[in-house]
Amino acid sequence: MQSQTDRVFAVEAGGAYIGNAGIHEIYWPARNARLSLIIGSKEQQGRGYGQAALRAIVRIGFDDLNLHKLWLKVFSTNKRGLYMYDKHGFIREGTMRQEYYHRGEFHDMIRMSLLQEEYRSLQETELWKDL
Ligand SMILES: CC(C)(COP(=O)(O)OP(=O)(O)OC[C@H]1O[C@@H](n2cnc3c(N)ncnc32)[C@H](O)[C@@H]1OP(=O)(O)O)[C@@H](O)C(=O)NCCC(=O)NCCS
Repeated sequence: MQSQTDRVFAVEAGGAYIGNAGIHEIYWPARNARLSLIIGSKEQQGRGYGQAALRAIVRIGFDDLNLHKLWLKVFSTNKRGLYMYDKHGFIREGTMRQEYYHRGEFHDMIRMSLLQEEYRSLQETELWKDL
């Protein structure tokens, strides 16, 4: 699915739908956008699909759309997500204090980002060579 500000993709494994990955809030004057990623079923998590999907949407964002910056928000308690974004070179920009309200509690979120120039310098590393 695609609009002026969004690109949304289904994540599939073995022909089955397992999640969504997206590029949202594309702001063309500054060429930045927000990423989203979810592997919905617990059985499919932890098998490498999330990281493969992350690399795919980062490539689309920088190589196809020529965006300058991709950013995202992740819950400060989401150890797997933080690990995954750190591993792929995303930089922690700061903590968005009590940003999200869920089931009677406020939760902090970490904002992270990757610049196209940083992605270019990582492209030659083994991690990014899987497609
Ligand atoms: C976060 C999410 C997208 C990751 O996708 P996934 O397919 O489960 O993850 P992968 O199997 O690709 O990779 C997980 C990595 O995290 C590591 N990991 C798993 N649990 C971890 C933990 N508790 N702490 C640190 N690292 C952890 C794994 O070892 C693996 O890294 P490695 O390949 O270097 O060994 C997925 O779990 C998910 O959708 N979670 C719920 C929604 C969410 O959190 N979305 C992101 C919000 S921005």
